[in-house]
Amino acid sequence: MKLYDVYPINPIEIDHAKGSYVWDKNGQKYLDMYGGHAVISIGHTHPTYVKNLKEQLNKVGFYSNSVEIPQQKVLAQLLGEVSGKPDYQLFLCNSGAEANENALKLASFYNGRKIIIAFTGSFHGRTSLAVAATDNPKIIAPVNETQNVVFLPFNNVEALNEAFKNYGENISAVITEGIQGVGGIREASVPFLKAIRSLCDQYNAVFIADSVQCGYGRSGRFYSHDYAGVNADIYTMAKGMGNGFPIGGVAIAPKFKPWHGQLGTTFGGNHLACAAAISVLEVIKKDQLLNNATLVGDYLIEQLRSIPEVKEVRGTGLMIGIELNEAYSNLRKDLLQKHFIFTGEAKPNVIRLLPALNLSMEDAEFFLTEFEQAISNYN
Ligand SMILES: Cc1ncc(COP(=O)(O)O)c(C=O)c1O
Repeated sequence: MKLYDVYPINPIEIDHAKGSYVWDKNGQKYLDMYGGHAVISIGHTHPTYVKNLKEQLNKVGFYSNSVEIPQQKVLAQLLGEVSGKPDYQLFLCNSGAEANENALKLASFYNGRKIIIAFTGSFHGRTSLAVAATDNPKIIAPVNETQNVVFLPFNNVEALNEAFKNYGENISAVITEGIQGVGGIREASVPFLKAIRSLCDQYNAVFIADSVQCGYGRSGRFYSHDYAGVNADIYTMAKGMGNGFPIGGVAIAPKFKPWHGQLGTTFGGNHLACAAAISVLEVIKKDQLLNNATLVGDYLIEQLRSIPEVKEVRGTGLMIGIELNEAYSNLRKDLLQKHFIFTGEAKPNVIRLLPALNLSMEDAEFFLTEFEQAISNYN
């Protein structure tokens, strides 16, 4: 059997990894400013993570949600503490799309309504409702098409007010990223997030903060939406949560009341996934990685803004978008092939930086030197 060919692949085989570096099978070392797609939050093969996973695997790797799994309670307690939302409830699943799918479903169970408001530039995943709420018709199959999702312009308070005025009684949920990732590192504005909060309160709709990419400390705050000073009703998370071990989560405000069978999953919250996620939070807490993301991120953003060839730098913490002119469309490839640095991208011409939250100042400095050199080759 051959693989179903859906990914454009770099001809690089990663053999091992440590911290913010990976090595290919030929021994070539790469700086990982991509974090394996915003997933590596505490660095590759972190010793606490490796030790805890090994220990858990030697005890029990999996048993179903039909028995007590105390690690889930430890994880919920720690997540409540580190995220600053101890009164929220945690539902565990396996991916970002699944977290959003459950959040949208929960909203509809809560208020009995069907309309979902999503925004231009959004990405919420590839499963049925999550992809329907994603602003990319190319990846929406006919079976995923629904009249229940309405797209409004991102950061447009007027359009939001107008929608609620016209059909607010039918709106079940408003879903938005705090910083759009796939959309090109674009921050939701404070007035926009505040308007979502107050309109959802007024009309009993549910505010869903998709924190799958921008959450888990990446922006320097645990949930990037927090900078608006308002709480969402539901936060969804995944990428950084398990540092590479597949796990997703839904943090649910106290007003939502569960009943047996309302949500469910076979693999979600298994022993190994919990061991991974607990290790991540322990390291984030102990090493104050939110502070590090702010410190190193602020420095990178400031320095990148001083490079004349760069058109615009967007983002917060270690979620950074570098917008370039078309002339530099090969720069990302050069960074990988000539400077051995992994970065992400957003179409049409944005380089996305999503490194581990414990990226050091020295590594940031190294990246800047290499980046400037790569850009100077075009002049
Ligand atoms: C904001 C956002 N939401 C949801 C998802 C989907 O997550 P997953 O690929 O784990 O299903 C992604 C993935 O890139 C994302 O960036």
